[in-house]
Amino acid sequence: MGGTVAKGPPIYNQEEREGLRAAGRFNAELMDHIRPLVQPGASTLELDGEIFTFTKDHGHTPACLGYAGPSGAPPYPNSSCISINEVVCHGVPSERRLKEGDIVNVDITSIVNGWHGDQSETFMVGAVGAEARRLVQTTFDALWVGIRAIKPFGYVRDIGAAIYKYARDRNFEVVRDYQGHGIGRQFHQEPGVPHFWFPRSKAGSQVIRPGMCFTIEPMLNQGTWKTVADKFDGWTVRTLDNKLSAQFEHTILMTENGPEPLTVTKNGPQEGHKF
Ligand code: MF3
Ligand code: CO
Ligand code: CO
Repeated sequence: MGGTVAKGPPIYNQEEREGLRAAGRFNAELMDHIRPLVQPGASTLELDGEIFTFTKDHGHTPACLGYAGPSGAPPYPNSSCISINEVVCHGVPSERRLKEGDIVNVDITSIVNGWHGDQSETFMVGAVGAEARRLVQTTFDALWVGIRAIKPFGYVRDIGAAIYKYARDRNFEVVRDYQGHGIGRQFHQEPGVPHFWFPRSKAGSQVIRPGMCFTIEPMLNQGTWKTVADKFDGWTVRTLDNKLSAQFEHTILMTENGPEPLTVTKNGPQEGHKF
């Protein structure tokens, strides 16, 4: 018989898409639950505990907890990533308390009936500096620029090209060491979704077909795009120059009619939101 070997990112059928929608919806409701708790004085471990409890109380699974690390790193120790100021991503929750002026990204991924939903938001804790605010707003807008850059049978590179131009026009850099990813029955799968693109890049030639599901999750930096992972915990990623970094993420299903963001609720910031 010798059937054709399936290659490339999975294409989900209608039933599978309902599984993805349910996972995205639950994850977004969890973000709704956490959003008001992000306040000066809250510790990141307390927020993570709420994420764990809410997920378990609804019969679901936090995808981060025990997730296999990069080579050399231990399994991820918590239920979420909470990244303050110069931390780009994969901030490990701790006793550290949020304080006025911080910017903090909360990145949550849930497994609902075997399907993953993944999203993050950067919050401004109390009053923050004008440049920090501009970074957060620009990163939020860059995510939506990326979402609006895609169409059925377009290319993955359209996402990075649009985000990169939007960020550089506003004098921010785009992180290159971490990217969006296909998502479904696995947390991270094909296709890789870079948030930058250069005319001679080979990456990004993947066609986005209806039924593909992936995240867009740009990380924008005030200074250099270069990052460094913490030598001790193996996870926490910081900007090389310790300047601020912000990130927003949604899980996106490409349908026959265009992109369908799966992790948006009425309570969260909508496209076009001004912080
Ligand atoms: N949620 C992150 C992402 O957006 C991945 C976190 S992996 C973890 O892809 F193990 F650090 F939780
Ligand atoms: Co995430
Ligand atoms: Co992700």
